[in-house]
Amino acid sequence: MPNPKKSVSRKNASFGVTIREAERYLANTYKRPKLVFTHGKGCTLYDQRGRAYLDFLGGIAVNALGYAHPRLVRTLRREAGRLTHVSNLFHNPYQGPLARKLAKWSGMDRVFFANSGAEAVEAALKLARAYAHSKHDAGKTKILALENSFHGRTFGAVSITWPEKYRKPFEPLVPGAEFVRFNDVADLEAKFDESVCAVIMEPIQGEGGIRTVSEGFWNRARELASQHDAALIADEIQCGLGRTGRAFAYQKFASQPDIVLVAKPLAGGLPLGAMMAKEKFASAFSPGMHGSTFGGGPLVCAVALEFLRVVEENGLFANARDRGAELRAGLEQLSGKFDFVTEIRGEGLMQGMQLTMDGQAFVDEALRRGLLINCTQQSTLRFVPPFIIMSSQVKDFLTRMEAVLAKTPRTQPKKAAVHAVRSASRAGDTQGKRSLVAAR
Ligand SMILES: Cc1ncc(COP(=O)(O)O)c(C=O)c1O
Repeated sequence: MPNPKKSVSRKNASFGVTIREAERYLANTYKRPKLVFTHGKGCTLYDQRGRAYLDFLGGIAVNALGYAHPRLVRTLRREAGRLTHVSNLFHNPYQGPLARKLAKWSGMDRVFFANSGAEAVEAALKLARAYAHSKHDAGKTKILALENSFHGRTFGAVSITWPEKYRKPFEPLVPGAEFVRFNDVADLEAKFDESVCAVIMEPIQGEGGIRTVSEGFWNRARELASQHDAALIADEIQCGLGRTGRAFAYQKFASQPDIVLVAKPLAGGLPLGAMMAKEKFASAFSPGMHGSTFGGGPLVCAVALEFLRVVEENGLFANARDRGAELRAGLEQLSGKFDFVTEIRGEGLMQGMQLTMDGQAFVDEALRRGLLINCTQQSTLRFVPPFIIMSSQVKDFLTRMEAVLAKTPRTQPKKAAVHAVRSASRAGDTQGKRSLVAAR
């Protein structure tokens, strides 16, 4: 008879080897706890010891249908036996229907498929420049982005990403980028001239600490982009496809962007990004100007199409709104109990909790208590659970989060954390000012 205890310890030993090999052979780009996740179901992940974790990180806003969703698994199994890849020199059965659905959701006209968020950003920057070159004199190349932005790690995307730590080590970057203070209309007006070919923004900044673009700022960006024949680009890679309770975060504004970017949740955890554009801009691409070997393959597109159908058919916009409201109310209550919590920000299932101190110790304590969250901008705890999250799980999360806030050893406010709050305040973010006062 096999000894079950022995097989468990053998398994643990082999995961020990997995971790040692990762530490020895992987490029040094991530700092990870000594934990291997082996499987998941719904909103729960399991580690190598079989321990369960309630997931309020969702693969950083990717796993919108949680883990092993039956409809995605069925689609994957079916398509894996048919066609995983076919060259973009030919049609595949799912690209057209997926593009049609994305166009319908967004109000855009044409779609380009890529493999990641950063690649969708690259496609948008290239399209905006190509359009400007086709219609204007050579100097129309400037790209405006916002302070605190995050658009990805490729050269183009990192050139329009604000924090210096992402840009500085890789200089010289793609020329032509300029940053505008967050929600500062006067600064936007001062920097917007005839040389601008695009202005790009996340309607809700994710890595930047869950900060929402104001209606006034959006409207002025729209006006200036139209006036100067530049593209207004909405990076909805983190906030889009239902997380706010709407298909896109920008849909609360009266006006539309010219280009929309999505990725993270689009194919339920498989790598897929998309750039959608209005015909006026999209027509600047002609065959051969841009492309991708893998982008929009049949397997990922079939899964993405199924993902969008599940969101529509299972009422997940409403779930994001309703569970988001419960989450928000609970977080507000917690903020009243702990003086180092200065603000709750966000919309729907994209919420941030601003602390007056470094957040990593809270993330570690949450992990010890079987809760997955993370921290952005050093002092903002980020909560981006799957769209299928249930009321009982939001309740469970809030109970555990209260214990995390109560039990985590307090550190002194870090200079960097206070600095982040101060720069938000300088950017005209009035809620940030509240945080600054509290941080003092
Ligand atoms: C708003 C936004 N844009 C772009 C990206 C880059 O996406 P990817 O990591 O898939 O390249 C991210 C990733 O976090 C993001 O949050």
